[in-house]
Amino acid sequence: MTIKDRKRIDDFYSQKARKEKYPARSVWKLEEFDEKYRLFKPGMRVLDLGCAPGSWTLYAAKAVGPGGLVLGLDLNPPQAAGLPKNVIFKKVDLLLAEGLEPAQEYGPFQIILSDLAPKTSGRKEIDQAKSLELCAAAWQWAQALSVKGADFLLKIFQSPEGDEFLKSLNLFYEKQIRLKPKASRKASQEIFVLNRGLLNNPG
Ligand SMILES: C[S@@+](CC[C@H](N)C(=O)[O-])C[C@H]1O[C@@H](n2cnc3c(N)ncnc32)[C@H](O)[C@@H]1O
Repeated sequence: MTIKDRKRIDDFYSQKARKEKYPARSVWKLEEFDEKYRLFKPGMRVLDLGCAPGSWTLYAAKAVGPGGLVLGLDLNPPQAAGLPKNVIFKKVDLLLAEGLEPAQEYGPFQIILSDLAPKTSGRKEIDQAKSLELCAAAWQWAQALSVKGADFLLKIFQSPEGDEFLKSLNLFYEKQIRLKPKASRKASQEIFVLNRGLLNNPG
């Protein structure tokens, strides 16, 4: 694929997001996973880690409907104008456990989403290490706030250490599926990992 072709695809996803009033094109990644793996059901409680600018939150809020709930946590507030009534946002540094207690008020959750990403430095090893640190933090939150049987979808920048982490995570779930969505740039280090069915919640 040429750079021009890739740019055309990127523009397509960005324009489609703007048209449908999502603040980021990342929504199409979640939509692809949901269409394939049926992640959401009406009435579910969703924890969205690293939720800003808010595309995944809006998608999940629609999918779980008015009887469900999405708790979004991020360092930054969502950009989405007028959050739906079933969305709660809290400003939290997920590397610290400080927001855990207020989050417990809204849980436990049937699905944990983590699209957490560090500010990239352009140095591959550093970015991979930062991504892994965020994934490990997301796993702490997932352990503390999941129901038994919950799913955990996370983004990770691929690395040998990341693979070790995913291997150990796999022991806690019925099934682990690695995903590279169409809307993800080919050159990007990111992959998504869907962990299905938490076996035993030690939290
Ligand atoms: C790729 S964006 C998420 C996009 C989001 N899923 C959406 O669809 O709009 C990654 C997010 O991770 C957040 N983040 C990174 N480090 C964080 C931390 N330590 N605590 C909370 N949020 C963090 C960033 O602020 C950023 O909003």
